[in-house]
Amino acid sequence: MAIYLGVETSCDETAAAVVENGRRILSSIVLSQIDVHQEFGGVVPEVAARKHLETINFVIEDAMKAASISPRQLDGIACTVGPGLVGTLLIGLSAAKALSWAWGRPLLAVDHLLAHVCANYLDSDLEPPFVALLVSGGHTQIIHFRSYSDGEILGQTRDDAAGEAYDKVARLLGLGYPGGPAIDRLAAQGDAKAFKFPEGVVPGYDFSFSGLKTAVKRTVEKLEPPLPTADLAASFQDAVVRVLIKKTLQVQRDLGANRIVLAGGVAANQGLRTRLKELSPVPVYTPKLVLCTDNAAMVGAAAHFCGRAVSLDVGVYSRQR
Ligand code: KG4
Ligand code: ZN
Repeated sequence: MAIYLGVETSCDETAAAVVENGRRILSSIVLSQIDVHQEFGGVVPEVAARKHLETINFVIEDAMKAASISPRQLDGIACTVGPGLVGTLLIGLSAAKALSWAWGRPLLAVDHLLAHVCANYLDSDLEPPFVALLVSGGHTQIIHFRSYSDGEILGQTRDDAAGEAYDKVARLLGLGYPGGPAIDRLAAQGDAKAFKFPEGVVPGYDFSFSGLKTAVKRTVEKLEPPLPTADLAASFQDAVVRVLIKKTLQVQRDLGANRIVLAGGVAANQGLRTRLKELSPVPVYTPKLVLCTDNAAMVGAAAHFCGRAVSLDVGVYSRQR
């Protein structure tokens, strides 16, 4: 049996969790800063870092208490080291290093994108190999996992990430930050055929979402208020979901893969989850909704399956390695 404490501060969620054998969540605390950043219409890195600093110790303490675990029972302390905001990553990593030293437990470095994929191991029996569609605020990738830690990126966005497109279109429609959940809710009430938006034609397995965002902008500029926001949201979402599914199924077919895994904040999207499950010829794994967006349970799972034991001088990185 292996028990890990996970710590996550890569963006605007301060999170800590205790996970057993990479599958069972003993506790998971997520303190969202959304209300703090909402008035700015997006995450302000400096403000985010200060908030993490104020709350990280309490969040970790809560996670340990809720799991009824003593430091001696931990096999290690795992922390997200990138990609993400350098200033916020450093807060979580400093806390994790201090505890690793004070408690005499190993420190493990976890990659944020890999952790999103590992959210699928929680409360499930999933094992590699599989094809993963990773769709978050900063990344959109199709990855072939041959083993727990060996992921080959086969396709990715050439410009905006899917989540970024959601957030930008939400701003155009006056729906605030973050845009994904708001568009998802509205889309369910709108007509997806009301507007014809381009999917973004890119050869192979890559994506492009900037043309779609511009098409929505042009359409909005031509419309008289009040905006038909539900129809716009539904038509936009339809274009995003269509292309994400088309390329993922193309990879699945070409590789003959027998499982598809959804991961990242946009994996919470109801339209994407439902449609992919309807259209896929093979089983589709999706994390529970609360485990799609940033959390530390996925870091605890990643520690078990693919964490790297590191020394206390490990640093953080802002871009994917
Ligand atoms: O994975 P995540 O929490 O953070 C990053 O690592 O980037 O993803 C956040 C992104 C945001 O862009 C947010 O708008 C999007 O996930 N998102 C959604 C939904 N819930 C969150 N997008 C579409 N539909 C949703 N239900
Ligand atoms: Zn994330």
